[in-house]
Amino acid sequence: MALPKKVKIVEVGPRDGLQNEKQLVPAATKIELINRLSNTGLPVIEVTSFVSPKWVPQMGDNAEVLAGIARKPGVSYPVLTPNLKGFEAALAAGAKEVAIFGAASESFSQKNINCSIAESLERFAPVVEAAKAEGIAVRGYVSCVLGCPYEGEIAPAAVAKVANTLFDMGCYEISLGDTIGTGTPLKARAMVEAVAAQVPIDRLAAHFHDTYGQALANLYAVLDLGVATVDASVGGLGGCPYAAGASGNVATEDVLYMLQGLGIETGVDMDKLVDAALFISEVLGRKPASKLAQAVAAQRAKAACA
Ligand code: HMG
Ligand code: MG
Repeated sequence: MALPKKVKIVEVGPRDGLQNEKQLVPAATKIELINRLSNTGLPVIEVTSFVSPKWVPQMGDNAEVLAGIARKPGVSYPVLTPNLKGFEAALAAGAKEVAIFGAASESFSQKNINCSIAESLERFAPVVEAAKAEGIAVRGYVSCVLGCPYEGEIAPAAVAKVANTLFDMGCYEISLGDTIGTGTPLKARAMVEAVAAQVPIDRLAAHFHDTYGQALANLYAVLDLGVATVDASVGGLGGCPYAAGASGNVATEDVLYMLQGLGIETGVDMDKLVDAALFISEVLGRKPASKLAQAVAAQRAKAACA
């Protein structure tokens, strides 16, 4: 299999990135970040989640954020909805696309959404039905596809089973989450091959966290199998509140640089993307996690002094 000619980048920074910030980030800052990302050419920006504010306080301003963004034609702005209550709130707030999120690990499912895998699938089915009735597209996530913080190794067959159930339920795309970033390229390939035996590969997305610095290598391994959708987080923001020690998703600008080097089209503007990464990093008072944004910031600072 050759590398894809075109890749869809799904920006998850405003949700997956910011959900883990200890200090509440003002809604206005989130809106500004999303509006900047909207102007980069990114086709999909996951903006927030309609989960319990007791579980993830940072996403408690979900409706305000969704209402406040300037939606750009042609860009999708999905939100996470773990159950019907979340879906109804998302619908009322004007969501046009949602995502349900399950796991391939029983323990992670319990810690993250307080139910077993089987119970989660029972909760998701009515969400998909309700979304269908409203003409709303549903994306499905599977977490812990390359390891679990509580159970360790996860069998590719377990990932394939959940992925296939979500796909059969009606999810148009299945995002495979290496939640704790422990995967390595051969494992990532084997996992995607197992899932692709049940779900068409053009419906799969790679959602790799970079905790162990393997995310780009893992991405390359699965792009080479034909995966053509990649989730990433601007500035490498993030982690998961229910996976201790997990760092952010692979940084969007690092992914873009690699894809550009491979001659793969994305439609995303690097300068505008780096501007967005530097904007949010400055607001959060830290350097961006991505090497690329750090390098560009250093070059800009040098040019400004010259
Ligand atoms: P629960 O406590 O079992 O829910 O939580 P419940 O149905 O028993 O309800 C308890 C309370 O929560 C009630 O309120 C409900 O109304 C409320 P109370 O009567 O106590 O005042 N409630 C809600 N409130 C707002 N929105 C809702 C909602 N549902 C119930 N949708 C629940 C179950 C799923 C709600 C909870 O466990 C939860 O919110 N979990 C979310 C955890 C989360 O957001 N994790 C991070 C996202 S997943 C991730 O990052 C991984 C991913 O990136 C992929 C990867 O990297 O692997 C996607
Ligand atoms: Mg994630």
